[in-house]
Amino acid sequence: MKYLFKNAKVLTMNSQMEILDDCDVLVENDCIKCVGNIGPEDRDKARAIDCTGKLLMPGFINGHTHVPMSILRNYADDMELQTWLFKYIFPVEERLTGEDVFFSSLLGIMEMLATGTTCFIDMYFFMDDIARAVEMSGIRAHLSRGMTCNEKGPDFSKVESLNESISFFKNWNGEANGRITGAFAPHAIYTCSPEFIKAVRDAAEKLGAPIHVHLDETLTEHENSLKDYNKTPTKHLYDLGLFDLKTIAAHCVWITDEDISLLKEKNVTIAHNPKSNLKLASGIAPIPEALSKGVNVILGTDGVASNNNLSMFEEISLAALIQKGAKQDPLLVSAKEAIRMATVNGSKALGRDDLGEVAPGKKADLILIDLDKPHFLPLHNPVSALAYCAQGVRRLSYYGKRPDTLRKR
Ligand code: NI
Repeated sequence: MKYLFKNAKVLTMNSQMEILDDCDVLVENDCIKCVGNIGPEDRDKARAIDCTGKLLMPGFINGHTHVPMSILRNYADDMELQTWLFKYIFPVEERLTGEDVFFSSLLGIMEMLATGTTCFIDMYFFMDDIARAVEMSGIRAHLSRGMTCNEKGPDFSKVESLNESISFFKNWNGEANGRITGAFAPHAIYTCSPEFIKAVRDAAEKLGAPIHVHLDETLTEHENSLKDYNKTPTKHLYDLGLFDLKTIAAHCVWITDEDISLLKEKNVTIAHNPKSNLKLASGIAPIPEALSKGVNVILGTDGVASNNNLSMFEEISLAALIQKGAKQDPLLVSAKEAIRMATVNGSKALGRDDLGEVAPGKKADLILIDLDKPHFLPLHNPVSALAYCAQGVRRLSYYGKRPDTLRKR
């Protein structure tokens, strides 16, 4: 199947962030075949989509979320993280069924697709049900079963979540026409003993699976780590050898300069979740410092229970704004940098080079943004418009209604 996107304004996301006006893009099956200069034979055979007045760009990669938490939207707000997690979230999660997880995943996926996300990086449970929702919807996802175990071992062969991780990876990695990839997810250092983290690491290494972990999210986690292990959470996981595997570490709010160097040394990607960190008052991650040392940073919404939506437009905007405000420096985290975190950097985090860019040979995970809206006009700078003006699916109620309908009211 061929599609021809005609007359689009294309944000390529190449290294120069080039923007091409009145450009045609040809897609064949799930790949971009040609950008501009499309031959007559291809034109005739393709289904044409008029993109006049629209921006075509790579879809966003949501770098850290828990998609079934859509069901907990606005359930527990305005409280301290430990209370929120242990008193409200964990008790409800214990009662969730696979069917709940399947339908709430579909809900979250609908919201993500409607707000420009074409790939998400997830950690949860009932993973088969999430994978089925991914398979059905057409979205791309990097999925891992979150694991918790504070036992000392040495035998972890009966830990259900570890066994589920192993079978999930074997059953689903590369499935849904390659749209599903798998990872191993020790939840965090405060829910996993060092011995268990080592066992997870060894099991992941055996299967060639990458790692997804929460890291240094709160000051409490940071201080407890210093007390219990006499080292930071980052140094703790570094010493356990977890970062020898390809790792995405979510949050990293309290990491030190030395931690940033360790993350850089091991090519660990930071998944920055600005809105969740603000809402739970966890703090503001040292992203400019990480970027200046060359660490790969991506953006995530975290779960809906701590956000309370899955719109990457908000994360892009906040990633650019909070550093400027917190450090009184308007030059920190530019609109360009924030959009790169939501696109190309995500591809790098997944160890691939075929996402996050509009170029021949890349996957056609593309989105169209209607620029003919009041909040985009005048369009002096499309990159700034994306970072600071875009609104996802939210729109004023009169949009799309015919004038005669309005008059009748
Ligand atoms: Ni999380």
